[in-house]
Amino acid sequence: MGNKNIKQVAVVGAGAMGSQIAMVCALAGYPVTLQDIEQQSIDKAKVFLDEQMNRRVEKGRFTREEVDNAFDRLSFTVNLEDLSNANIVIEAIIEKLDAKRELFAKLDKIVANDTILATNSSTIVSSKIADVVSHPENICNIHFFNPVLVMEMVEVVKGPHTSDETAQASMEFVKSIHKTPVLLKKEISGFIANRILGKLMDEAVYLYENGYATHEEIDLVCKKALNHPIGPFALMDLTGIDVNYFVRMQRFNESGDENDKPSRIVTEKVEKGELGKKVGKGFYEYDEKGIRV
Ligand SMILES: NC(=O)c1ccc[n+]([C@@H]2O[C@H](COP(=O)([O-])OP(=O)(O)OC[C@H]3O[C@@H](n4cnc5c(N)ncnc54)[C@H](O)[C@@H]3O)[C@@H](O)[C@H]2O)c1
Repeated sequence: MGNKNIKQVAVVGAGAMGSQIAMVCALAGYPVTLQDIEQQSIDKAKVFLDEQMNRRVEKGRFTREEVDNAFDRLSFTVNLEDLSNANIVIEAIIEKLDAKRELFAKLDKIVANDTILATNSSTIVSSKIADVVSHPENICNIHFFNPVLVMEMVEVVKGPHTSDETAQASMEFVKSIHKTPVLLKKEISGFIANRILGKLMDEAVYLYENGYATHEEIDLVCKKALNHPIGPFALMDLTGIDVNYFVRMQRFNESGDENDKPSRIVTEKVEKGELGKKVGKGFYEYDEKGIRV
């Protein structure tokens, strides 16, 4: 068990998550290929990672040599065929089931019979994808948290199709990149952290929408009474209010339960384009450097 020999890593999707996942793996010593369909995303990822790593060198968290060596191990491509020698592929593309299914079907024709195919999806369980590949036993969820360069936790989720070998090898792999994995023995949409966080968000939004307190006050209570490092509204701004919206729409589409739909205030924010920190306005306002004003 857990004896899959991982020598070469591939990450698909060079966005917020994929770029950092690739960097973390390269820092841990793995040769990594980061693929994206958009050259523009790759160019952005390079600039972003450069900035992030320079900052860490300045703060003394890594030496210049460690970072340079990690960048030497990291290659970028727009061709999926370049991932053919990967022992593990971590998918971090757009959160749309059809796009993920299409990608995994393509990967199936490119990678070896025993390559682990993992999805970093925030909500989609791997059994929704497993039927498009010829070796479903190699598929599981490996769910990182944002920002991946900072957050230690990773949830590994074993679907009914996932072999023990794949689950154990994924756990070992996560440890080898200096993260702390937890194995979910059965699939459930949203996994552990986001399900618990979702309940907290729901209650915060309920209290706000019904006029019990302002969003600033609710955030303050979570920080000062519950010792949370950040309040639920500031957190929604950070991750993107649209992410909350799409997660809830996905859940509603799966369950058909009206209660699973996005809340009124979240829907309003998305309609107005007030998506959070990335656009300068969400529940709070931000200057061009992303500092709250
Ligand atoms: N943002 C978060 O906080 C967070 C946290 C945990 C998990 N996730 C999950 O990670 C995944 C990626 O999220 P993100 O925030 O990095 O998204 P993002 O929009 O920042 O990046 C997605 C990238 O995927 C690329 N892409 C789209 N389709 C592709 C394809 N077919 N092949 C190759 N590249 C493709 C896009 O060009 C883009 O660069 C999603 O499944 C999301 O649910 C996100």
